[in-house]
Amino acid sequence: MVESDFIIIGTGAGGLSAALHASEHGSVIMLTKRGALDSNSNWAQGGIACVTAGDDSIEKHVSDTLIAGAGLCKEAAVRTIVTEGPSRIAELVNWGVHFDQREAKSGHLEFDLTKEGGHSTRRVLHVADATGKEITEKLLATVRAKKNITILENHYAIDLITTAKLGLASEDRVLGAYVLDETTGEVETFRSDRVILATGGCGRVYLYTTNPKVATGDGVAMAWRAGATVANMEFIQFHPTCLYHPQKRSFLITEAMRGEGARLYDKNGVEFMPKYDKRGTLAPRDIVARAIDHEIKRTGGPCVYLDISHKPADFILSHFPNIHRECLAIGIDITKEPIPVVPAAHYQCGGVLTDVNGATSIRGLCAVGEVGCTGLHGANRLASNSLLECVVTSHRSVAHLLKKLPIGKKAEQSYDLKPWQSSGVVENDELVVIYHNWDEIRRLMWDYVSIVRTNKRLQRAAARLRNLKREVQEFYWNNRVTSEILELRNLVETASLIVECAIRRHESRGLHYTLDYPTTDDSHELHDTALRRY
Ligand code: FUM
Repeated sequence: MVESDFIIIGTGAGGLSAALHASEHGSVIMLTKRGALDSNSNWAQGGIACVTAGDDSIEKHVSDTLIAGAGLCKEAAVRTIVTEGPSRIAELVNWGVHFDQREAKSGHLEFDLTKEGGHSTRRVLHVADATGKEITEKLLATVRAKKNITILENHYAIDLITTAKLGLASEDRVLGAYVLDETTGEVETFRSDRVILATGGCGRVYLYTTNPKVATGDGVAMAWRAGATVANMEFIQFHPTCLYHPQKRSFLITEAMRGEGARLYDKNGVEFMPKYDKRGTLAPRDIVARAIDHEIKRTGGPCVYLDISHKPADFILSHFPNIHRECLAIGIDITKEPIPVVPAAHYQCGGVLTDVNGATSIRGLCAVGEVGCTGLHGANRLASNSLLECVVTSHRSVAHLLKKLPIGKKAEQSYDLKPWQSSGVVENDELVVIYHNWDEIRRLMWDYVSIVRTNKRLQRAAARLRNLKREVQEFYWNNRVTSEILELRNLVETASLIVECAIRRHESRGLHYTLDYPTTDDSHELHDTALRRY
């Protein structure tokens, strides 16, 4: 058994910054199922929203966030996260993150801020069009220099260990996790009284997504199985502009491009956003994604087109060097021609229900970043608020865990953890089951549970997922665990939670749009769609 003061699962921006704070107080083990840079954060292009400009204010940022969130944000959480943002940005800079700067009129250097949909002013700090890469690389380098942080790559957390799972009657608290070492194939027991989930989102539940392969809903599924409350999973954000090209799927075209003047055209070259919203291409994402979905269906075209080519080439190259290079490699010169784009699953606004400290319903367990649901995003996330949430809640969650159980102090009771049981399992022989089920889940989620929903489609999805879940569960119990089985098990669990939440919301709000209840129902008190297993 391996013991540490903190276990952090996930090595994106939330996990890495939590590790740096935690390491000031005790030993930290970081677990990641692939490499340390395989994360959603690493792929973030646009940037991190924060009040830094003289003409901006906390009130404006709070107000923009609340408007995008369509009435479901928790204002206190929004206010805390937005207010603490500037200190966390200063910390990122101290840890070596170099945000783009420009010369102000006074001659001093200031952050070069960009704009994205729903923001009333320029407030998005960025590093060209590869902000997440810069943040995760710099944080990882700082983490690697710390002697009391151990990063274990290719270590897949299977399940959390809690007092409830051990059948103990005391208040439910986390005790650690069972973890598959993918290099040896052995399952090890990791013990800690302070566990932080920072596993990111679940974009891979859908056939089309901007997310990397690792985004399989692991944290939500694990927390759910452990008995934590999960909320608002119906609010999946579809990014309006994912590159449409057979050789390059999942490649995001940042919203900052629209912030810098790019426009959207249908397949006949007609600009369509002004007819949907007076904010045009910079309307919040739910509106733009639905408009594109509608235009694609109306025109019968496979995609729409995003065009920035009216801007000078040197402007495009300096702001979007990464996108320019990647598109050129497949024959699209964005300085001269439009980019074919489609909406794709991008961000999970719900997750494991937490307070603004990232504290979940299980003592000692925090969830930070996309895996958690603090109430910042409500029914629709304001662009680039998520990296901000990662760094603010990771800082707060470490402080919270230490306050509840200072280092050196033991939880009231000591517990004997049972080692992982693998008797009775056989070698896997039917890998085709995994691939088939994986494809089926992603396809059915795309067809029945994406941008526009209906009761009938949701019920159909729920029925299929019930069958798939039974099959996957049987496979899981009878076979030796591998990362493929674990991902499939988490994928089907997360997909089922999305569908269950969507079925329960009888209105359209933010990212949840259903033809059966096409309007927003403000006649009742607003509520989260909160689910609990037991
Ligand atoms: O469009 C983007 O660069 C994405 C930003 C975000 O999801 O926050």
